[in-house]
Amino acid sequence: MLKCTKLFSNVNNNTNQILSPNPMSLEEALKLADQIVFEKTGQHLDDLQKAVLQGTLKRKIYRQIAEDFNYSESCIRGVGAELWKILSKELGEDINKSNFRSAMERFYNSNILNFAENVSGSVNICQKQRHPPDTPKSHQPNQEKSHSKQPATLHQDLDEMPELGIFYNRTTELEALKTWILQQNCHLIALTGIIGIGKTTLAVKLVQQIKDNFDYIIWRSLETSPTFAEFQADLVQFFSQSQPENLLENTQKFLPLIKYLQKHHCLVVLDDIHHLFSSGELAGKYKLGYEEYDCFFKQIEKLSHESCFLLIGWEQPIKLLQVKSKKTLIPILQLTGLDINNAREILKDYDLAEIENWERLIHLYQGNPLWLKSVASQIQELEENLIELLPDDAVLLPEDLKDSLQQQSDRLSQPEKETLSLLVTKNQPISLAQLLETTQIPPSDLFNTLQSLCQRSLIQKQKSLYSVPPVIRQYYGNKLRLNIEGFGDKTLTKSEFIDS
Ligand SMILES: Nc1ncnc2c1ncn2[C@@H]1O[C@H](COP(=O)(O)OP(=O)(O)OP(=O)(O)O)[C@@H](O)[C@H]1O
Ligand SMILES: [Mg+2]
Repeated sequence: MLKCTKLFSNVNNNTNQILSPNPMSLEEALKLADQIVFEKTGQHLDDLQKAVLQGTLKRKIYRQIAEDFNYSESCIRGVGAELWKILSKELGEDINKSNFRSAMERFYNSNILNFAENVSGSVNICQKQRHPPDTPKSHQPNQEKSHSKQPATLHQDLDEMPELGIFYNRTTELEALKTWILQQNCHLIALTGIIGIGKTTLAVKLVQQIKDNFDYIIWRSLETSPTFAEFQADLVQFFSQSQPENLLENTQKFLPLIKYLQKHHCLVVLDDIHHLFSSGELAGKYKLGYEEYDCFFKQIEKLSHESCFLLIGWEQPIKLLQVKSKKTLIPILQLTGLDINNAREILKDYDLAEIENWERLIHLYQGNPLWLKSVASQIQELEENLIELLPDDAVLLPEDLKDSLQQQSDRLSQPEKETLSLLVTKNQPISLAQLLETTQIPPSDLFNTLQSLCQRSLIQKQKSLYSVPPVIRQYYGNKLRLNIEGFGDKTLTKSEFIDS
């Protein structure tokens, strides 16, 4: 609890006025709250926190405050809840929206005499450290906000970030990501794309370029599917640089981590986020027991802070993308392949003799660097002029490429398998109307399924026409011919498929 002796030195420096207890002005109440919050967190109130307190002092309900400041009501509630918690802790009594004003007045008046005795003192004279105890020693810059553009100390945990090998181009994508992160201060950004397209590589390059802009930067792969409690404990440990607390029993589940994200300017990169989602379901549905991530990401999106989460994976949290609106900007970068010139460089790395067909090859493999590497390696091993020997539309599927596609294939739901099978049988792009005529999947399920397949980058939509890219067509075509793993519409015979 706060034991102030001279807290009010800059709340009201007119001793004559304050010697007789009287109601505080709105401004005084705000200043007092600001000082109390500063004592606790080392940061002054931000604009949104001020808005919540001002609205509260004017006896507005959360919904009105939210409307006045163009925020969602839940966001305002979250900010309020965090403030009441800080104030309650510091004042040693239960503060909430309905008693905030009277509590401030009580506290103000009960400390006035102390203030009068010490009016010449400085602001920070409480018997507490200026910085909260959980601020790492190395991170106690004498600044109002720790997230200045050039932090005094940079805290990094990039052990899980892969090393960057050869890197071609991606200038446009890097610029887009930098704008979202550094200029627009987006809280959440989704980087998605088919396996091997270069998501991780792009993010590594990005981190290398922008890491000096952050106080804290952390890279985690979610490949081991950590539960939210494990994930939070891991990050809190990094931030606090102390032993993990027993957060599992904490009732206010997201506050420990969010507290750090609000206090500092952090970049958190979460790679392989698809490991949080179920196999056998449409893309981006949380596994059982992983829904807490959803609440957490929503808080990250809504609350006031300057930190950013970059979510990378084959799938993105479907619920999060659904709340997307003009107010909540969650940019999504669906990564496509390298352009012809840069993809050419990859083939050159394999010392393949340049041939006219290279461009066709790059188109077939959609400029996917992993696929190009795989096929270049096979060509290198077998026969340099292999491509010239094959028909124009022949797609080589080396075993490692098939293995990587299998990983994504294993995650598909049955309706996705059926729809993909249907699309694979069509030689031409097909409209929604044609699809509806052909399939027995109910329309609303079909729409969700198509959305999900597009999200996974397994199908393409161009001018209202759906099609399957050549590598995917070849891969799933083989499965369909063999009628394995749930592929193959029961109404479609093998001969029908081959004829179509
Ligand atoms: N811009 C690039 N320049 C050169 N090579 C690249 C580039 N992007 C990716 N690669 C190479 O392509 C391969 C796949 O890249 P990466 O692992 O980044 O893909 P990914 O999309 O993260 O794959 P996954 O979906 O499996 O996580 C790697 O060998 C990588 O070095
Ligand atoms: Mg990756």
